[in-house]
Amino acid sequence: MRGFRVTDVVAIKDQVEAAVQAALTEVLPAELAGADPVVRRSDRADFQSNATLAVAKKAHRAPRDIAADVVTHVAEGESPKIDAEVSGPGFLNLTVPDQMIWSNVAARLADDRLGVSTSRTGERVVVDYSAPNVAKQMHVGHLRSTIIGDTLARVFDHLGAGVIRQNHIGDWGTQFGMLIQYLDEHPDAAWRGRGAETMDALDGLYKAARKEFEADPAFADRARSRVVALQAGDEATVATWRDLVAESETAFEAIYQRLNIQLDHDNFDGESRYNPALPGIVEALTEAGIAIESDGAMVTFTDGVVNADGDPVPLIVRKRDGGYGYAATDLATIRLRVDEYRADRILYVVDARQALHFRLVFDTARRAGWLPESVHARHVAFGTVLGTDGRPFKTRSGDTVRLTDLLDEAVGRAHAILAERDTGLDAEELDAIANAAGIAAVKYADLSNTRTKDYVYDPAQMVSFTGNTGVYLQYAHARIRSILRKAEQTPPDTTATGTAATSAAGPDAGEPGMLAGVDVTAPLEPAERALALALDEFDQALRDVADTLEPHRLCGYLYAVATAYTKFYDTCPVLTAPNPTTRTNRLALCDLTGRTLDTGLGLLGITAPERM
Ligand code: ARG
Repeated sequence: MRGFRVTDVVAIKDQVEAAVQAALTEVLPAELAGADPVVRRSDRADFQSNATLAVAKKAHRAPRDIAADVVTHVAEGESPKIDAEVSGPGFLNLTVPDQMIWSNVAARLADDRLGVSTSRTGERVVVDYSAPNVAKQMHVGHLRSTIIGDTLARVFDHLGAGVIRQNHIGDWGTQFGMLIQYLDEHPDAAWRGRGAETMDALDGLYKAARKEFEADPAFADRARSRVVALQAGDEATVATWRDLVAESETAFEAIYQRLNIQLDHDNFDGESRYNPALPGIVEALTEAGIAIESDGAMVTFTDGVVNADGDPVPLIVRKRDGGYGYAATDLATIRLRVDEYRADRILYVVDARQALHFRLVFDTARRAGWLPESVHARHVAFGTVLGTDGRPFKTRSGDTVRLTDLLDEAVGRAHAILAERDTGLDAEELDAIANAAGIAAVKYADLSNTRTKDYVYDPAQMVSFTGNTGVYLQYAHARIRSILRKAEQTPPDTTATGTAATSAAGPDAGEPGMLAGVDVTAPLEPAERALALALDEFDQALRDVADTLEPHRLCGYLYAVATAYTKFYDTCPVLTAPNPTTRTNRLALCDLTGRTLDTGLGLLGITAPERM
């Protein structure tokens, strides 16, 4: 377990921002103090600031003029000095000294959080995710919710927030009357205790029950009485319902384990849990005049929400037949999460097609006073998974694709690719790594796409060792680990000047210029610089994910790190570095890159094997 402590590492970018900001404060009139230094990475220097352009008008001065003054002040700053230079209409090109970069690498290496701060400390976040339905096969939509929700939960947790994971499984509703009645009338239908097969069996039985329900009015009547029996707590009916829920949960848990998802029994927060609260919800809404009667149902309306004909769209909190449903249940989740869990933020990771539902639910809850403005409730919507034909992902016969089959396929493909490579792994290791790679492929393919967009599920592409794939990142990490292992076995020539590399991250005896084994006074190659500056953005990348709720930003970041590493490795020999100091410093960069990839992949719920 990593301790949640505030990191001591100050990002290079933050140091540059502070220097520019301090200079701006000196240069600008007092009322413009604290102006945003607008520092960005740049191709021309390490960073660029165009703050002068933004404040020039208010300061009644030419941007170039202000920039020139900033340059003077930055030059007077603390050493090691950042180099500033005026460019174009008044931009500032900012170059940081080599020593600042090496010091930063060393400081990150010495920090078990790799420079990531606990910026979300004190915040409580409820993440509602996965939420498959009892007695039904989990489909790719649930897979998306599961993978995205898990990553968001991990990132908030890593940033120090208190995270409450909740799996709002569909374990209640009139459909259970139909299914239980059907099972009763077909006692030989074997569905219990068959693990993954149980869900298959139930899925089939569910479809058969629905068919009979539609074709046979007498069965439909018996099914309806069964709903009444379930709600009245009839012992035999409730027992079967409990069995259905338990068997389904076991099957879901098996998938979570296989996918390395942080959900288990303790996180189940099924719809049934809220059942007793529903009459009170509708009563309170009715008394407040928020729910009104419409066609025998109780509904709420939200200002400005109309359908294609311009008619207001109702949120049905109680159906005409007196039953409560999905909407009332979601209002109840809000009450629990706000009143008891004291959530500051509630994230509902659910298919984009439920956008209207959540809009109406949140609006109703706000008006009822159950969701104060200070609590952020967000529908974290995601797009549809498409097949390579561009249509919603289904089997050829139009059935839901079984998640286990999907994972088996990805693992099989990864296995085939690994077996072809000359990895020197024994069969058992190969199986374990193929498994890690297959799962990584599926998860990363999902996470690396813009969340709200539909994406094409392409099993051949996602297991590729090249390009923006989870497997590529795992491979980049494994290559680094292999270099570090080799470095330990082959110490450098210690007769040459410089310090021997024992462990790149190891604390070093207090020699001047040395920090955590890194010689911070060493020169810096452009590719080393680019890699170090990419590693400097880890904290920012994670904060971006939490701010935008977009996991693809972390994927893009890790891919950029891996790419910068490849360029570094191609141009800067590590094990055969020209001298021990260079070797030590480069090993430090390797180590930091490896650990950043490992931690980053971990936040995506992806394991990073030691070899591949
Ligand atoms: N069980 C629902 C479905 O399969 C998703 C539930 C999402 N969570 C929620 N609080 N409504 O569509």
